[in-house]
Amino acid sequence: MKAKFSSKIGIIAATVGSAVGLGNIWRFPAEVQENGGAAFLLIYILCVFLLGVPVMLSEFSLGRAGGADAVGTFRKLTPGKPWWLIGLLGILASYIILCFYMVVAGWTLEYMIQSITGNLYQPVDGTDTAGSFTARMSQYIQSENTPLIYIYIMIALNLAILLGGVKKGIERISNILMPMLFLLLVIFCCVSLSLPGASGGVTFFFEPDFSKITPTVIINALGQAFFSLSLGMGVLITYASYFPKDSRLGRTAFTVSVLDLLVALMMGLIIFPAVVSFGLENESLRGLTLVFVTLPEVFNQMEFTTLWSSLFFLTLAVAAITSTISIAEVSVAFFQDRFRMSRAKACLCVLLPTVLFSTLCSRSLAAGSSLTVAEMTLFDFMDMLATNVMLPIGSLLMCIYAGWVIPRRLMLSQLTDNGTIRSHICTFILFCIRYIAPPAIIAIFVSSFL
Ligand code: PHE
Repeated sequence: MKAKFSSKIGIIAATVGSAVGLGNIWRFPAEVQENGGAAFLLIYILCVFLLGVPVMLSEFSLGRAGGADAVGTFRKLTPGKPWWLIGLLGILASYIILCFYMVVAGWTLEYMIQSITGNLYQPVDGTDTAGSFTARMSQYIQSENTPLIYIYIMIALNLAILLGGVKKGIERISNILMPMLFLLLVIFCCVSLSLPGASGGVTFFFEPDFSKITPTVIINALGQAFFSLSLGMGVLITYASYFPKDSRLGRTAFTVSVLDLLVALMMGLIIFPAVVSFGLENESLRGLTLVFVTLPEVFNQMEFTTLWSSLFFLTLAVAAITSTISIAEVSVAFFQDRFRMSRAKACLCVLLPTVLFSTLCSRSLAAGSSLTVAEMTLFDFMDMLATNVMLPIGSLLMCIYAGWVIPRRLMLSQLTDNGTIRSHICTFILFCIRYIAPPAIIAIFVSSFL
Protein backbone atom coordinates (compact mmCIF):
# COMPACT_ATOMS: atom_id res chain seq x y z
CA MET A 1 0.00 0.00 0.00
CA LYS A 2 1.24 3.41 -0.90
CA ALA A 3 2.16 5.64 2.03
CA LYS A 4 -0.17 8.59 2.67
CA PHE A 5 -0.24 11.63 4.88
CA SER A 6 -2.70 10.95 7.64
CA SER A 7 -4.63 14.19 8.16
CA LYS A 8 -5.58 17.49 6.55
CA ILE A 9 -3.33 19.37 8.93
CA GLY A 10 -0.55 16.93 8.15
CA ILE A 11 -0.88 17.63 4.43
CA ILE A 12 -0.77 21.37 4.96
CA ALA A 13 2.06 21.19 7.48
CA ALA A 14 4.22 18.99 5.28
CA THR A 15 3.59 21.04 2.15
CA VAL A 16 4.12 24.32 3.98
CA GLY A 17 7.19 22.68 5.50
CA SER A 18 8.53 22.11 2.02
CA ALA A 19 7.67 25.58 0.80
CA VAL A 20 8.77 27.57 3.82
CA GLY A 21 12.47 27.36 4.27
CA LEU A 22 15.72 29.06 3.50
CA GLY A 23 14.11 30.29 0.30
CA ASN A 24 11.95 32.65 2.33
CA ILE A 25 14.33 33.45 5.11
CA TRP A 26 17.72 33.59 3.47
CA ARG A 27 17.15 33.86 -0.30
CA PHE A 28 14.14 36.19 -0.41
CA PRO A 29 15.62 39.19 1.48
CA ALA A 30 18.82 38.84 -0.53
CA GLU A 31 16.87 38.94 -3.79
CA VAL A 32 14.84 41.94 -2.63
CA GLN A 33 18.03 43.76 -1.69
CA GLU A 34 19.74 43.04 -5.00
CA ASN A 35 16.76 43.70 -7.23
CA GLY A 36 15.67 47.10 -6.08
CA GLY A 37 13.37 46.58 -3.09
CA ALA A 38 9.62 47.11 -3.33
CA ALA A 39 9.48 46.89 -7.13
CA PHE A 40 10.79 43.35 -6.88
CA LEU A 41 8.29 42.55 -4.15
CA LEU A 42 5.41 43.67 -6.34
CA ILE A 43 6.47 41.48 -9.26
CA TYR A 44 7.14 38.62 -6.88
CA ILE A 45 3.60 38.76 -5.50
CA LEU A 46 2.16 38.81 -9.02
CA CYS A 47 4.30 35.80 -9.93
CA VAL A 48 3.14 33.88 -6.85
CA PHE A 49 -0.57 34.28 -7.53
CA LEU A 50 -0.78 34.46 -11.33
CA LEU A 51 1.82 31.83 -12.13
CA GLY A 52 2.78 30.03 -8.93
CA VAL A 53 -0.70 28.94 -7.88
CA PRO A 54 -1.64 27.52 -11.33
CA VAL A 55 1.66 25.62 -11.53
CA MET A 56 1.16 24.34 -7.99
CA LEU A 57 -2.33 23.11 -8.84
CA SER A 58 -1.01 21.44 -11.97
CA GLU A 59 1.54 19.56 -9.90
CA PHE A 60 -1.00 18.64 -7.24
CA SER A 61 -3.46 17.37 -9.85
CA LEU A 62 -0.85 15.32 -11.65
CA GLY A 63 0.51 13.85 -8.43
CA ARG A 64 -2.86 12.90 -6.96
CA ALA A 65 -4.11 11.50 -10.26
CA GLY A 66 -0.93 9.57 -11.00
CA GLY A 67 -0.18 8.49 -7.46
CA ALA A 68 3.48 7.87 -8.20
CA ASP A 69 6.88 9.56 -8.12
CA ALA A 70 7.81 12.48 -10.39
CA VAL A 71 8.72 10.24 -13.33
CA GLY A 72 6.21 7.44 -12.65
CA THR A 73 3.29 9.88 -12.63
CA PHE A 74 3.96 10.91 -16.22
CA ARG A 75 4.42 7.28 -17.24
CA LYS A 76 1.12 6.30 -15.68
CA LEU A 77 -0.86 9.17 -17.13
CA THR A 78 0.61 8.92 -20.63
CA PRO A 79 2.10 5.44 -21.02
CA GLY A 80 4.57 4.86 -23.82
CA LYS A 81 5.18 8.58 -24.42
CA PRO A 82 8.35 10.48 -23.55
CA TRP A 83 6.59 12.97 -21.24
CA TRP A 84 8.29 11.38 -18.24
CA LEU A 85 11.38 13.35 -19.28
CA ILE A 86 9.72 16.37 -17.65
CA GLY A 87 9.84 14.48 -14.38
CA LEU A 88 13.45 13.56 -14.96
CA LEU A 89 14.36 17.20 -15.59
CA GLY A 90 12.65 18.02 -12.31
CA ILE A 91 14.59 15.39 -10.45
CA LEU A 92 17.82 16.77 -11.86
CA ALA A 93 16.92 20.33 -10.86
CA SER A 94 15.91 19.19 -7.40
CA TYR A 95 19.21 17.42 -6.95
CA ILE A 96 21.22 20.49 -7.89
CA ILE A 97 19.19 22.53 -5.43
CA LEU A 98 19.63 19.91 -2.75
CA CYS A 99 23.41 20.16 -2.99
CA PHE A 100 23.75 23.92 -2.52
CA TYR A 101 20.77 24.14 -0.17
CA MET A 102 22.46 21.68 2.17
CA VAL A 103 25.37 24.11 2.46
CA VAL A 104 23.18 26.94 3.74
CA ALA A 105 21.30 24.46 5.91
CA GLY A 106 24.67 23.61 7.45
CA TRP A 107 25.29 27.30 8.25
CA THR A 108 22.03 27.52 10.15
CA LEU A 109 23.16 24.68 12.34
CA GLU A 110 26.57 26.28 12.79
CA TYR A 111 24.94 29.55 13.80
CA MET A 112 22.72 27.72 16.23
CA ILE A 113 25.68 26.07 17.95
CA GLN A 114 27.69 29.31 17.96
CA SER A 115 24.69 31.08 19.50
CA ILE A 116 24.36 28.50 22.23
CA THR A 117 28.05 28.67 23.09
CA GLY A 118 27.89 32.48 22.92
CA ASN A 119 30.83 32.68 20.48
CA LEU A 120 28.79 34.51 17.91
CA TYR A 121 28.35 37.42 20.31
CA GLN A 122 31.96 37.72 21.45
CA PRO A 123 33.32 40.96 20.01
CA VAL A 124 36.10 40.54 17.47
CA ASP A 125 39.08 42.78 18.27
CA GLY A 126 39.26 46.09 16.45
CA THR A 127 35.72 46.01 15.00
CA ASP A 128 32.35 47.56 15.84
CA THR A 129 29.43 45.16 16.19
CA ALA A 130 28.56 45.10 12.49
CA GLY A 131 32.19 44.50 11.63
CA SER A 132 32.30 41.84 14.25
CA PHE A 133 29.36 39.91 12.81
CA THR A 134 30.82 40.22 9.33
CA ALA A 135 34.11 38.85 10.60
CA ARG A 136 32.33 35.97 12.33
CA MET A 137 30.41 35.28 9.18
CA SER A 138 33.52 34.93 7.07
CA GLN A 139 35.04 32.78 9.76
CA TYR A 140 32.00 30.46 9.87
CA ILE A 141 30.93 30.38 6.26
CA GLN A 142 33.90 31.19 4.12
CA SER A 143 36.49 29.03 5.76
CA GLU A 144 37.49 25.81 4.10
CA ASN A 145 36.65 23.15 6.61
CA THR A 146 34.59 24.45 9.53
CA PRO A 147 31.28 24.59 7.68
CA LEU A 148 31.72 21.07 6.32
CA ILE A 149 31.12 19.31 9.58
CA TYR A 150 27.77 21.06 10.03
CA ILE A 151 26.80 20.26 6.47
CA TYR A 152 27.53 16.59 7.11
CA ILE A 153 25.47 16.65 10.30
CA MET A 154 22.59 18.12 8.30
CA ILE A 155 22.89 15.38 5.71
CA ALA A 156 22.86 12.75 8.47
CA LEU A 157 19.76 14.32 10.04
CA ASN A 158 18.01 14.24 6.69
CA LEU A 159 18.89 10.60 6.31
CA ALA A 160 17.46 9.79 9.73
CA ILE A 161 14.16 11.56 9.03
CA LEU A 162 13.78 10.19 5.53
CA LEU A 163 14.36 6.67 6.81
CA GLY A 164 11.47 7.25 9.20
CA GLY A 165 9.20 7.47 6.15
CA VAL A 166 6.36 9.70 5.17
CA LYS A 167 4.06 9.68 8.17
CA LYS A 168 6.36 9.26 11.11
CA GLY A 169 9.25 11.27 9.71
CA ILE A 170 8.09 14.09 7.49
CA GLU A 171 4.60 14.68 8.81
CA ARG A 172 5.32 14.55 12.51
CA ILE A 173 8.26 16.93 12.55
CA SER A 174 6.44 19.44 10.34
CA ASN A 175 3.39 19.47 12.59
CA ILE A 176 5.37 20.50 15.62
CA LEU A 177 7.94 22.91 14.33
CA MET A 178 6.30 24.98 11.65
CA PRO A 179 3.94 26.75 14.10
CA MET A 180 6.91 27.57 16.32
CA LEU A 181 8.69 29.24 13.41
CA PHE A 182 5.69 31.49 12.73
CA LEU A 183 5.50 32.54 16.34
CA LEU A 184 9.18 33.45 16.55
CA LEU A 185 9.00 35.47 13.34
CA VAL A 186 6.11 37.52 14.71
CA ILE A 187 8.15 38.34 17.82
CA PHE A 188 11.22 39.34 15.82
CA CYS A 189 9.10 41.47 13.49
CA CYS A 190 7.86 43.48 16.47
CA VAL A 191 11.40 43.98 17.76
CA SER A 192 12.80 44.99 14.39
CA LEU A 193 9.97 47.39 13.64
CA SER A 194 10.53 49.18 16.92
CA LEU A 195 14.22 49.90 16.20
CA PRO A 196 15.11 53.57 15.67
CA GLY A 197 14.93 54.47 11.96
CA ALA A 198 12.96 51.33 11.14
CA SER A 199 10.63 53.24 8.84
CA GLY A 200 13.42 53.71 6.26
CA GLY A 201 13.55 49.94 5.85
CA VAL A 202 9.78 49.67 5.58
CA THR A 203 9.83 52.27 2.81
CA PHE A 204 12.53 50.38 0.93
CA PHE A 205 10.47 47.21 1.19
CA PHE A 206 7.03 48.65 0.40
CA GLU A 207 7.39 51.77 -1.77
CA PRO A 208 8.13 50.65 -5.32
CA ASP A 209 10.39 52.58 -7.62
CA PHE A 210 9.08 51.39 -10.99
CA SER A 211 12.20 52.48 -12.82
CA LYS A 212 13.99 49.59 -11.14
CA ILE A 213 11.97 46.98 -13.04
CA THR A 214 14.07 45.27 -15.71
CA PRO A 215 13.84 41.87 -17.43
CA THR A 216 16.48 40.56 -15.03
CA VAL A 217 14.44 41.69 -12.04
CA ILE A 218 11.39 39.93 -13.46
CA ILE A 219 13.11 36.62 -14.13
CA ASN A 220 14.68 36.78 -10.67
CA ALA A 221 11.23 37.31 -9.16
CA LEU A 222 9.81 34.42 -11.15
CA GLY A 223 12.69 32.13 -10.18
CA GLN A 224 12.33 33.14 -6.54
CA ALA A 225 8.57 32.51 -6.60
CA PHE A 226 9.03 29.00 -8.02
CA PHE A 227 11.91 28.26 -5.68
CA SER A 228 10.01 29.44 -2.65
CA LEU A 229 6.86 27.51 -3.52
CA SER A 230 8.91 24.38 -4.34
CA LEU A 231 7.60 24.31 -7.90
CA GLY A 232 8.80 22.94 -11.19
CA MET A 233 10.77 19.96 -10.03
CA GLY A 234 8.25 17.37 -9.02
CA VAL A 235 8.40 17.96 -5.26
CA LEU A 236 4.70 18.71 -5.18
CA ILE A 237 3.88 15.89 -7.60
CA THR A 238 5.61 13.54 -5.19
CA TYR A 239 3.91 15.02 -2.11
CA ALA A 240 0.50 15.05 -3.83
CA SER A 241 0.89 11.35 -4.50
CA TYR A 242 0.78 10.98 -0.69
CA PHE A 243 -2.45 13.03 -0.44
CA PRO A 244 -5.52 10.92 0.30
CA LYS A 245 -8.08 10.91 -2.53
CA ASP A 246 -10.48 13.16 -0.61
CA SER A 247 -7.95 15.91 0.10
CA ARG A 248 -8.71 19.48 -1.05
CA LEU A 249 -6.27 20.65 -3.70
CA GLY A 250 -7.43 24.23 -4.19
CA ARG A 251 -7.61 25.00 -0.52
CA THR A 252 -4.22 23.45 0.10
CA ALA A 253 -2.59 25.40 -2.74
CA PHE A 254 -4.07 28.67 -1.56
CA THR A 255 -3.13 28.13 2.09
CA VAL A 256 0.41 27.10 1.24
CA SER A 257 0.99 30.06 -1.08
CA VAL A 258 -0.40 32.58 1.38
CA LEU A 259 1.56 31.21 4.33
CA ASP A 260 4.73 31.09 2.25
CA LEU A 261 4.26 34.69 1.19
CA LEU A 262 3.51 35.69 4.76
CA VAL A 263 6.81 34.28 5.97
CA ALA A 264 8.68 36.10 3.20
CA LEU A 265 6.92 39.37 4.11
CA MET A 266 7.72 38.93 7.78
CA MET A 267 11.36 38.33 6.92
CA GLY A 268 11.41 41.55 4.91
CA LEU A 269 9.94 43.37 7.88
CA ILE A 270 12.62 41.92 10.12
CA ILE A 271 15.62 42.44 7.87
CA PHE A 272 15.16 45.81 6.16
CA PRO A 273 14.32 47.92 9.21
CA ALA A 274 17.38 46.40 10.85
CA VAL A 275 19.59 47.08 7.84
CA VAL A 276 18.63 50.76 7.90
CA SER A 277 18.65 51.10 11.65
CA PHE A 278 22.17 49.68 11.97
CA GLY A 279 23.43 51.54 8.91
CA LEU A 280 24.29 48.30 7.13
CA GLU A 281 23.25 49.53 3.66
CA ASN A 282 26.80 50.43 2.87
CA GLU A 283 28.42 47.27 4.10
CA SER A 284 29.23 44.87 1.32
CA LEU A 285 26.41 42.66 2.52
CA ARG A 286 25.18 41.04 -0.57
CA GLY A 287 23.01 38.04 -1.06
CA LEU A 288 24.44 35.17 0.81
CA THR A 289 25.41 37.03 3.89
CA LEU A 290 22.60 39.47 4.54
CA VAL A 291 20.65 37.35 6.99
CA PHE A 292 23.68 36.02 8.80
CA VAL A 293 24.91 39.47 9.73
CA THR A 294 21.71 41.45 10.11
CA LEU A 295 19.83 39.05 12.32
CA PRO A 296 22.53 38.76 14.97
CA GLU A 297 22.41 42.56 15.13
CA VAL A 298 18.69 42.35 15.91
CA PHE A 299 19.17 39.69 18.57
CA ASN A 300 21.96 41.74 20.07
CA GLN A 301 19.44 44.52 20.74
CA MET A 302 17.13 42.20 22.65
CA GLU A 303 17.38 41.01 26.18
CA PHE A 304 18.31 37.33 26.43
CA THR A 305 20.29 37.51 23.21
CA THR A 306 21.56 33.96 23.45
CA LEU A 307 18.12 32.52 24.00
CA TRP A 308 16.50 34.30 21.04
CA SER A 309 19.42 33.68 18.79
CA SER A 310 19.63 29.97 19.60
CA LEU A 311 15.87 29.55 19.27
CA PHE A 312 15.81 31.33 15.95
CA PHE A 313 18.62 29.39 14.37
CA LEU A 314 17.11 26.20 15.74
CA THR A 315 13.81 26.87 14.00
CA LEU A 316 15.64 28.02 10.90
CA ALA A 317 17.54 24.75 10.86
CA VAL A 318 14.23 22.93 11.19
CA ALA A 319 12.65 24.97 8.40
CA ALA A 320 15.67 24.04 6.32
CA ILE A 321 15.25 20.36 7.16
CA THR A 322 11.53 20.24 6.30
CA SER A 323 12.54 21.64 2.90
CA THR A 324 15.61 19.48 2.30
CA ILE A 325 13.68 16.32 3.06
CA SER A 326 11.07 17.34 0.50
CA ILE A 327 13.74 18.00 -2.10
CA ALA A 328 15.44 14.69 -1.36
CA GLU A 329 12.11 12.86 -1.27
CA VAL A 330 11.68 13.50 -5.02
CA SER A 331 14.74 11.40 -5.81
CA VAL A 332 14.12 8.88 -3.02
CA ALA A 333 10.58 8.18 -4.30
CA PHE A 334 11.94 7.91 -7.82
CA PHE A 335 14.58 5.34 -6.86
CA GLN A 336 12.09 3.41 -4.76
CA ASP A 337 9.37 3.28 -7.41
CA ARG A 338 11.49 2.98 -10.50
CA PHE A 339 14.19 0.58 -9.36
CA ARG A 340 12.16 -1.20 -6.69
CA MET A 341 14.75 -0.31 -4.07
CA SER A 342 14.07 -0.51 -0.37
CA ARG A 343 13.51 2.88 1.22
CA ALA A 344 16.81 2.64 3.11
CA LYS A 345 18.81 1.91 -0.01
CA ALA A 346 17.09 4.69 -1.95
CA CYS A 347 17.83 7.20 0.83
CA LEU A 348 21.50 6.24 0.82
CA CYS A 349 21.77 6.44 -2.97
CA VAL A 350 20.38 9.95 -2.87
CA LEU A 351 22.14 11.39 0.14
CA LEU A 352 25.64 9.90 -0.05
CA PRO A 353 26.63 11.74 -3.24
CA THR A 354 25.41 15.02 -1.76
CA VAL A 355 28.33 14.78 0.67
CA LEU A 356 30.72 15.28 -2.22
CA PHE A 357 28.73 17.90 -4.13
CA SER A 358 27.92 19.98 -1.07
CA THR A 359 31.56 19.92 -0.07
CA LEU A 360 32.51 21.34 -3.46
CA CYS A 361 29.80 23.99 -3.22
CA SER A 362 30.91 25.03 0.22
CA ARG A 363 34.58 25.10 -0.78
CA SER A 364 33.77 27.31 -3.76
CA LEU A 365 32.87 30.07 -1.29
CA ALA A 366 36.21 30.00 0.52
CA ALA A 367 38.48 32.97 -0.14
CA GLY A 368 40.56 32.52 -3.29
CA SER A 369 38.77 29.34 -4.37
CA SER A 370 39.18 28.34 -7.98
CA LEU A 371 35.89 26.45 -8.08
CA THR A 372 34.18 28.84 -10.45
CA VAL A 373 31.95 28.43 -13.50
CA ALA A 374 31.25 31.28 -15.91
CA GLU A 375 32.86 33.74 -13.49
CA MET A 376 30.54 32.68 -10.68
CA THR A 377 31.33 30.56 -7.68
CA LEU A 378 30.13 26.99 -8.16
CA PHE A 379 27.56 27.73 -5.46
CA ASP A 380 26.10 30.75 -7.29
CA PHE A 381 26.24 28.96 -10.61
CA MET A 382 24.24 25.99 -9.36
CA ASP A 383 21.72 28.32 -7.76
CA MET A 384 21.34 30.35 -10.95
CA LEU A 385 21.14 27.31 -13.23
CA ALA A 386 18.52 25.50 -11.17
CA THR A 387 16.44 28.49 -10.08
CA ASN A 388 16.43 30.80 -13.07
CA VAL A 389 16.71 28.24 -15.86
CA MET A 390 15.54 24.77 -14.85
CA LEU A 391 12.60 25.75 -12.64
CA PRO A 392 10.91 28.03 -15.18
CA ILE A 393 11.41 25.42 -17.91
CA GLY A 394 10.15 22.61 -15.66
CA SER A 395 7.12 24.65 -14.58
CA LEU A 396 6.34 25.61 -18.15
CA LEU A 397 6.42 21.99 -19.30
CA MET A 398 4.23 20.92 -16.40
CA CYS A 399 1.60 23.51 -17.31
CA ILE A 400 1.67 22.48 -20.93
CA TYR A 401 1.34 18.85 -19.92
CA ALA A 402 -1.44 19.43 -17.40
CA GLY A 403 -3.27 21.90 -19.65
CA TRP A 404 -2.92 20.38 -23.08
CA VAL A 405 -1.70 16.80 -22.94
CA ILE A 406 -3.80 14.97 -20.40
CA PRO A 407 -7.58 14.94 -20.89
CA ARG A 408 -9.35 18.13 -19.79
CA ARG A 409 -11.92 15.97 -17.99
CA LEU A 410 -9.23 14.41 -15.80
CA MET A 411 -7.75 17.80 -14.86
CA LEU A 412 -11.18 19.21 -14.06
CA SER A 413 -12.07 16.27 -11.87
CA GLN A 414 -8.81 16.76 -9.95
CA LEU A 415 -9.24 20.52 -9.67
CA THR A 416 -12.83 20.24 -8.48
CA ASP A 417 -11.87 17.47 -6.05
CA ASN A 418 -14.18 15.13 -7.95
CA GLY A 419 -16.96 17.62 -8.32
CA THR A 420 -17.10 18.73 -4.69
CA ILE A 421 -16.26 22.38 -5.36
CA ARG A 422 -17.77 24.94 -7.69
CA SER A 423 -16.54 24.37 -11.14
CA HIS A 424 -16.27 27.90 -12.52
CA ILE A 425 -13.30 28.71 -10.27
CA CYS A 426 -11.68 25.53 -11.52
CA THR A 427 -12.44 26.35 -15.13
CA PHE A 428 -10.72 29.68 -14.54
CA ILE A 429 -7.68 27.96 -13.02
CA LEU A 430 -7.51 25.59 -15.95
CA PHE A 431 -7.69 28.64 -18.22
CA CYS A 432 -4.64 30.09 -16.37
CA ILE A 433 -2.81 26.78 -16.69
CA ARG A 434 -3.50 26.61 -20.42
CA TYR A 435 -3.42 30.18 -21.67
CA ILE A 436 -1.79 32.46 -19.12
CA ALA A 437 1.07 30.65 -17.41
CA PRO A 438 2.85 29.18 -20.46
CA PRO A 439 3.12 32.38 -22.57
CA ALA A 440 3.98 34.45 -19.49
CA ILE A 441 6.77 32.11 -18.44
CA ILE A 442 8.14 31.96 -21.99
CA ALA A 443 8.03 35.76 -22.33
CA ILE A 444 9.80 36.35 -19.03
CA PHE A 445 12.38 33.69 -19.72
CA VAL A 446 13.20 34.83 -23.24
CA SER A 447 13.32 38.53 -22.38
CA SER A 448 15.87 37.86 -19.67
CA PHE A 449 18.28 36.75 -22.40
CA LEU A 450 17.76 39.73 -24.68
N1 PHE B 1 10.76 26.06 -1.11
C1 PHE B 1 11.90 25.82 -0.31
C2 PHE B 1 12.31 27.10 0.38
O1 PHE B 1 11.75 28.12 0.16
C3 PHE B 1 13.05 25.28 -1.07
C4 PHE B 1 12.70 24.22 -1.99
C5 PHE B 1 13.00 24.35 -3.30
C6 PHE B 1 12.07 23.08 -1.53
C7 PHE B 1 12.66 23.39 -4.17
C8 PHE B 1 11.71 22.11 -2.39
C9 PHE B 1 12.00 22.27 -3.72
O2 PHE B 1 13.23 27.10 1.11
